[in-house]
Amino acid sequence: MSPADTTHRSLRQSLGQFATGVTVVTARGLDGRFVGLTVNSFASVSLDPPLILWSLTADSKLLPAFSACTHFAVNVLSADQADISRRFAGARVDKFSGLDLRVGAGDTPLIVGCCASFECRRETQHDGGDHVIFVGHVERHHRNKEAPAPLLYYGGHYRNLAPQS
Ligand SMILES: Cc1cc2nc3c(=O)[nH]c(=O)nc-3n(C[C@H](O)[C@H](O)[C@H](O)COP(=O)(O)O)c2cc1C
Repeated sequence: MSPADTTHRSLRQSLGQFATGVTVVTARGLDGRFVGLTVNSFASVSLDPPLILWSLTADSKLLPAFSACTHFAVNVLSADQADISRRFAGARVDKFSGLDLRVGAGDTPLIVGCCASFECRRETQHDGGDHVIFVGHVERHHRNKEAPAPLLYYGGHYRNLAPQS
């Protein structure tokens, strides 16, 4: 392993200590088809105006779609949706097939059964090293009180919330 690989691995391991939720970010692609990927770089930015961000690896084949779309949606996955996370983190051709979907602002697909969703107008995008940072203006949001607790990701593994004793 080269010194650069060792440095990357060590940084990844340290970053992996930061537990996150798991989202699927979706949009309508240039050809009208739905696009989406699993994302844990989602974060809130501002309440007024309501802004959120997430970052996409700069060599992603989805970059043209997310750079051109007017809207995207952030679907916050529930504890029972780890399979959906795996599906959207893989290179499957039709990631949406067989999923229960609703259509949100800007014709973006919303995944039914998520804990929460944020329908965003794409506000700005910024260079972030080997990633591109997308900032979205939240036009609509929905919290699903019927859904199980959120799915978590930590140390390279999916986790469930355990109640604090
Ligand atoms: C838990 C988890 C979080 C991820 N977070 C991100 C992320 O924030 N940004 C990103 O570009 N890729 C992220 N990925 C990787 C993408 O989901 C993966 O590369 C996906 O295959 C990209 O879709 P594509 O193959 O259709 O381009 C994450 C993967 C996992 C499993």
